[in-house]
Amino acid sequence: MNLTGNTIFITGGGSGIGRGLAEALHAKGNQIIISGRRKAALAEVVAANAGMDSIELDVESLDSIKSVATTLTAKYPKLNVLINNAGIMKDDVVDFPIDDTIASSIITTNLLGPIRMTSALIEQLKAQPAAAVITVTSGLAFTPLARTAVYSATKAALHSFILSQRYLLKDTNVRILELAPPYVQTELGGEHQLTDPNAMPLGAFIDETVQVLGTDADEVNVKGVAMLRNNVGPDEYAFFSKFNDMMSGR
Ligand SMILES: NC(=O)c1ccc[n+]([C@@H]2O[C@H](COP(=O)([O-])OP(=O)(O)OC[C@H]3O[C@@H](n4cnc5c(N)ncnc54)[C@H](OP(=O)(O)O)[C@@H]3O)[C@@H](O)[C@H]2O)c1
Repeated sequence: MNLTGNTIFITGGGSGIGRGLAEALHAKGNQIIISGRRKAALAEVVAANAGMDSIELDVESLDSIKSVATTLTAKYPKLNVLINNAGIMKDDVVDFPIDDTIASSIITTNLLGPIRMTSALIEQLKAQPAAAVITVTSGLAFTPLARTAVYSATKAALHSFILSQRYLLKDTNVRILELAPPYVQTELGGEHQLTDPNAMPLGAFIDETVQVLGTDADEVNVKGVAMLRNNVGPDEYAFFSKFNDMMSGR
């Protein structure tokens, strides 16, 4: 996609990958609007990037999504890119009775959130000369991490949703992109992840991602996610088991 002159709305731009993308795309001459629940995190990013804007959003709430979409489209009539980035990961082991509050929250945030956010903005995007929806899934959409079963399932479902959306919008000016990160140094899985040497450094991830974003690829994937992404076919369970043995130190 063209990486300059866009008006880009990012969910969850106050930290991690959302913040990284916001700052990299801001530096390339795009109007960026970030969002999230933590006012202080949003204010910090906006203060560090003159001209960037922010809006409070809770993607678990349909009312919040609708009200943000109304405010955004009134203030930014040229809004043409939506980045569905907000997401949560919690340990949600499924070999014990599951905590229903946690499971519901993960599904509402990670799956219903992007579905509802896209729905609220789709007509706005269709009215633009060139538009895109970029949804952040995960390498775990393709090879689940067993100890985050519900999280992995939301990302797999999101991948499926994206395929349908891309097909239905193929003759329009709205491109549907998927960004499936590998394990990256953010706070997604807790503070320890920020410095975990097994995770890809955030800066390197953002640099490579923005490079791929500037191409015609529908899947904006860095090379490091290929092992997980390319795992499909009849040997899937064997590969999945090997991956999970490795992740649980077996
Ligand atoms: N880091 C990785 O290893 C990795 C790998 C694969 C995929 N991903 C995906 O990358 C995306 C970004 O995660 P990250 O790694 O950058 O972690 P992060 O730093 O924890 O960022 C998650 C962002 O989502 C926002 N968010 C969470 N719940 C929200 C809600 N209900 N409403 C609005 N915003 C909400 C958070 O902002 P507030 O708390 O302020 O609301 C936060 O800024 C997620 O979709 C994640 O699943 C990450």
